[in-house]
Amino acid sequence: MLRNLTLRAQKKRLLVRPRVIVCVPSGITEVEKRAVRDSALHAGAREVFLISEPVAAAIGADLPIEQACGNMVMDIGGGTSEIAVISLSHIVVHNSIRVGGDKMDTDIISYLRKKNNLHVGLQTAEKIKMTVGSAYPLKQELTMDVRGRDIVSGYPVTIKISSEEIREAMSETISTMIDAIKRLFERTAPELSADIAERGVFLTGGGALLKGLDEKICKTVDLPVHVVPDPLECVVKGAGRVLDDVDRYRDVLIKRIED
Ligand SMILES: Nc1ncnc2c1ncn2[C@@H]1O[C@H](COP(=O)(O)OP(=O)(O)OP(=O)(O)O)[C@@H](O)[C@H]1O
Ligand SMILES: [Mg+2]
Repeated sequence: MLRNLTLRAQKKRLLVRPRVIVCVPSGITEVEKRAVRDSALHAGAREVFLISEPVAAAIGADLPIEQACGNMVMDIGGGTSEIAVISLSHIVVHNSIRVGGDKMDTDIISYLRKKNNLHVGLQTAEKIKMTVGSAYPLKQELTMDVRGRDIVSGYPVTIKISSEEIREAMSETISTMIDAIKRLFERTAPELSADIAERGVFLTGGGALLKGLDEKICKTVDLPVHVVPDPLECVVKGAGRVLDDVDRYRDVLIKRIED
């Protein structure tokens, strides 16, 4: 897959072996780092750089991570959510939970099955989440017609569901995410936590687009919360910026043990 993507990205310059940057979760082990590096080299890379996803997200979101202040970033992806406090180009503390947007989809499936005897697939569940899903009460609550299969009769049916119901379905997952922020904040040194209390938490990744998530976090942990512009793209934007100026960003790259 990597080789194919490399070819597509390179287009005409087929003879030049590319430099490759790979974004990895912050909790990755040494063995996993080596495996990632080797895969990229086998796929034809001339040189491979690794960077933590939250750091790439922070750079993509234009946060001042090279300065001596604390920056808290939460990247909510499909399978995992990562939270990191970054200062002076380094991750000071981080926390990773195996819960993200996909868990919200399966929450919705279980809820509709239990409460409405309705079976829907993953794609429908994701669409419901994006259309009427929310983490905090909306000014104008929403409804949506959902098509699925009645579990008892086996026939296709359409029912109306509300944003309140979907909020209830996803509430436990949202609480898990907020607890992770609280726990990390407690582990953060006082000087940095003072910065974070002032500057707030920055949400990135597709999960940051869930309606009212910023408000819910803000009300629960009492910190300012901002969704970065283009949350789905800031990891890749940050990685691209680092690759364009590796010398400037050398400190943020993951060092090799051999170095
Ligand atoms: N508008 C939206 N509202 C709610 N969730 C959304 C929205 N848009 C995308 N998502 C969710 O964001 C998730 C994908 O986010 P992202 O692309 O950042 O993940 P990823 O980087 O591929 O995953 P990971 O970081 O776990 O490897 C999916 O669960 C998707 O359903
Ligand atoms: Mg991601």
